[in-house]
Amino acid sequence: MTDPRLESLRSVLPGLQLECGPAELEHFGRDWTRRWTPAPLAIAFPRQAQDVVGIVQWARREGVVLVPSGGRTGLSGGAVAANGELVVSLERMNRILGFDPVDRTLQVQAGAVLQVVQEAARSHGLAYPVDFGSRGSCTIGGNIATNAGGIRVLRHGNTREWIAGLTVVTGRGELLELNRGLVKNSSGYDLRHLLVGSEGTLGIVVEATLKLAPSPPPTNVMLLALPAFEAVMEVFSVFRERLQLEAFEFFTDVALRHVVGHGASDPFDQVHPYYVVVEFAVADEAGEAAAMAAFERAMEAGLVVDGVVSQSDAQAAQIWQLREGITESLAPRRPYKNDVSVRVGAMPAFLAEIQGLLGEGYPDFEVVWFGHIGDGNLHINVLRPEGMAEQAFIGRCEQVTRLLSDVLARHGGSISAEHGIGLVKKPYLQGTRSVAEIEVMRGIRRVLDPDGIMNRGKVFPD
Ligand code: FAD
Ligand code: MLT
Ligand code: ZN
Repeated sequence: MTDPRLESLRSVLPGLQLECGPAELEHFGRDWTRRWTPAPLAIAFPRQAQDVVGIVQWARREGVVLVPSGGRTGLSGGAVAANGELVVSLERMNRILGFDPVDRTLQVQAGAVLQVVQEAARSHGLAYPVDFGSRGSCTIGGNIATNAGGIRVLRHGNTREWIAGLTVVTGRGELLELNRGLVKNSSGYDLRHLLVGSEGTLGIVVEATLKLAPSPPPTNVMLLALPAFEAVMEVFSVFRERLQLEAFEFFTDVALRHVVGHGASDPFDQVHPYYVVVEFAVADEAGEAAAMAAFERAMEAGLVVDGVVSQSDAQAAQIWQLREGITESLAPRRPYKNDVSVRVGAMPAFLAEIQGLLGEGYPDFEVVWFGHIGDGNLHINVLRPEGMAEQAFIGRCEQVTRLLSDVLARHGGSISAEHGIGLVKKPYLQGTRSVAEIEVMRGIRRVLDPDGIMNRGKVFPD
């Protein structure tokens, strides 16, 4: 470890674990995008908030850029370190610190893995309802920094809804305790919400107080086969009117083929173009009857042509695997990912418009559509055709994304519903946020990170 800046870091924090072997640099310098070549200076593994304070103060003095790092499951390049940054991994700050039965909150370190947090909540007879496919690897710090969404937003909202308090180290190197778990607090700006979704550009989250929900009711899961894209939002209306929905997710047969190619089994004998997964509460027989009524109504109207309903937890998990397995099944192809949203009410018009746009933009490409359609959030993944050079592929995707961004702007939508802007979507931020808004964001950043050391190069357009 010869870099003099690292020697100076070691001298101020002698107990801090620092790694700079090639395997670690490679591993901690990338996220799930795998588009950039990892090249961090080193990786630091703080064990307590004061280590993080020391790291930020050192980074300000030395002019070193910091990249906060959770599970690196991010899909927008937010945790990528490709320019000699110090990666600050929260991996060693992963403890559940306490449970408050009166407030129904869980105090956790930022590196706690989402699934561990969910299990801790369950062990107290409660639930942490934010949930999605990377639960076994992503961290609460990363979830907060991206305002992660997932499959239960429809019922429980995004990560933001579940944050009762945050402890953060700002880019100034100051430790702030934000909101301290209070339910009511009208004492000025709620800085906790500035940190949610800030993608590591304002500071490093070191601890969080998470709200917990009552245990979920028993649920059933249905997989429905649809004959036409236009039916998706109509099926949503039919089910939403009659049932307490926990989730409403969508994918195409193209997506299903990838998951089946990855080992899952297709429950239908016939191929159908579109599918939705509906999870709904079934407290009693009336709940089950309402579900059957919704199904029959959708069949009669020709909106649904086939369906299966889970009879056990194992079957529910199998159905969910068809939806949640999509990302992993596509990962070897390194898809270009879009993660867009519009108001739910604007979805039919938006869908009609972008089908043509994407058809023209990607005439010979495999395009995989899926997503949290009940929240107005679509994931559109584009696969590189064999023989096409990576650079040409990205170039084409960026051209089409620019057009998509224009359509989104007209519909009042967002270029990033839940994955964050990171590196991947920063050229399009201006389609979603006005010039004035971006200036306010830059101003806030200057206050909390005056030297621009926090995740520099991410989120803001160059
Ligand atoms: P990282 O990837 O490590 O970091 C993400 C961003 O947060 C970076 O900008 C990083 O700098 C910053 N950051 C990390 N930790 C901190 C911290 N302590 N303080 C400040 N900044 C920090 N996302 C969804 O929203 N919904 C989904 O349904 C969903 N499904 C997924 C399924 C799969 C299979 C995969 C691989 C990913 C999925 N994601 C989903 C994306 C990803 O898991 C989330 O964005 C997640 O919140 C990232 O957490 P992480 O700990 O891996 O963060
Ligand atoms: C999902 O909904 O499956 C995730 O957001 C991951 C992805 O978009 O690939
Ligand atoms: Zn998603």
